[in-house]
Amino acid sequence: MSKLTIADEAHRRRTFAIIAHPDAGKTTLTEHILLAGGAVRAAGAVKARGDNRRARSDWMKIEKERGISVTASVMTFEHDGKMFNLLDTPGHEDFSEDTYRTLTAADCAIMVLDAAKGIEPQTLKLFEVCRLRNIPIITFINKLDREAQDPMALLDEVASRLQLDPAPIWWPAGSGTRLRGLVEVGTGRFQPYAKKIAGSTDDAEHPAALPLTDAAQYFEQGEQDEVAEAVELVEAGYPAFDRQSFLEGHLTPVLWGSALRHFGIEDLLRAIGEWAPAPKVMPARKEAPPETRNAPAPEAIEVDPGQNEVTGFVFKVQANMDPNHRDRIAMFRMASGSFKRGMKLKVQNTGKQLSVNAPIMFFASDRELAEEAYAGDVIGIPNHGVLRVGDSLSESGLVRFAGLPNFAPEILQRVRVKDPLKAKHLKKALEGLAEEGVTQLFRPEIGADFIVGAVGQLQFEVMADRLGEEYGLDVLFEPSPYAEARWVGGDKADLEDFAGKYRPQMAFDIDQNPVFLAKSSWETGYVGERFPKVTFSKTLERG
Ligand code: G4P
Repeated sequence: MSKLTIADEAHRRRTFAIIAHPDAGKTTLTEHILLAGGAVRAAGAVKARGDNRRARSDWMKIEKERGISVTASVMTFEHDGKMFNLLDTPGHEDFSEDTYRTLTAADCAIMVLDAAKGIEPQTLKLFEVCRLRNIPIITFINKLDREAQDPMALLDEVASRLQLDPAPIWWPAGSGTRLRGLVEVGTGRFQPYAKKIAGSTDDAEHPAALPLTDAAQYFEQGEQDEVAEAVELVEAGYPAFDRQSFLEGHLTPVLWGSALRHFGIEDLLRAIGEWAPAPKVMPARKEAPPETRNAPAPEAIEVDPGQNEVTGFVFKVQANMDPNHRDRIAMFRMASGSFKRGMKLKVQNTGKQLSVNAPIMFFASDRELAEEAYAGDVIGIPNHGVLRVGDSLSESGLVRFAGLPNFAPEILQRVRVKDPLKAKHLKKALEGLAEEGVTQLFRPEIGADFIVGAVGQLQFEVMADRLGEEYGLDVLFEPSPYAEARWVGGDKADLEDFAGKYRPQMAFDIDQNPVFLAKSSWETGYVGERFPKVTFSKTLERG
């Protein structure tokens, strides 16, 4: 039992995610952060090869076949008096929707850039989500052990493309075969880099840091002076780190290193521990479940992480992690309170009560029952479909968090089951997958077809695979006449006027929200102009 107060416990939590373009080194960095944090003993635990691959994030067959991680998971470890919750986000672009949702549960993001490539398309997309949600960002420029771009050009790219002030904490002395180490801007401390010894399977230990002026032995002729000059220029030309500005999302501290060579990782972990924010006060509403008789009007409230009542929201539901059990695990991000195993929590939007007897904490090498948890923690709650993405849970059942976005799908297909006798099963299965947030489901007002929407093609493959494996359904996807889906809103009369004219293209999503299915992006623009009083949204906040 902890002697700290609830507020102290919340205060020592750091819940963060790593965002990166595929191949920038997110998996490798995850592994090395866990290594630096003492959560795993050997590199390779996260992404081991062959038979040793852990069943952590590759529980799905398709993940193994494709060698990609498509499900977001969380890893918890304690280091230096702090509890770190690392949210793993899938890197593949088809799964960006899942990633977006995971970011709603993060208080900070580590943006990994490949030093040779700088900002790549997926980096930009993910960054925009962080900005939308005011998530502060620490930048880690990776793969310094390979030939890198000019470091100033990299910083300038961050400044110009992300509109974010880069504050270099360290400065690289060379890259690739000429990587000598890192200089701490402001102090002139030098961290030498040790190359991997040829033929050895282990990485060499990096020597202890020392003042740059004493580090001549690590440089070749002239290099040391060049680096000292560069650092002077950098100190004068870039902003110094300012925590407030970082927390407000105007500035990003920039660290460098090589995940693969375990270089610069301890400093990154220290930066997360010292600078990343603890769980914050969150806006919410106090609201009785729908259909409550004589319910008082909803009221805006602020949820303090240190308050007694346990509150939080579900940002992801993972189904069938263990093929022997068909249960689902809802990933519950706590916003406040002191959770104890066995506690009863209520779902705000349905009023259902749940005894949380077997909550799971995810550690790097194991899963354990969570005996207690605090704001910032993510616990897995096994259930049989009671919990859905976006659900708010609390002891009173009256706290509702908003803001889990649904994104308009970019591909819409019709789905059919090969055996017509199984049509009913198909409906149930599609609803199940939509509730989990795997794909979106639209039921047109006219006709019996289901339209399935996804952000990327791979989602359909995952879906077909799961329909087969888990539900025994052999399905066919067919092109649909639709290119885009937009949630419609506005006055009742305006909406009815619009829906009346476009009845064959109107549908409902799984929560019965009205959706317009457009045949082309031109048509979306056209109806937008013709019906200026109706809103056509690309995102829908669930919850
Ligand atoms: P991702 O999760 O962001 O997609 O990237 P991942 O960590 O899988 O890394 C992509 C590739 O980049 C891997 O090589 C990995 O070993 C390499 N890598 C990551 N960090 C560094 C680094 O600091 N320096 C260098 N030189 N390489 C790095 P791969 O050959 O594609 O895969 P693998 O067979 O090594 O797993």
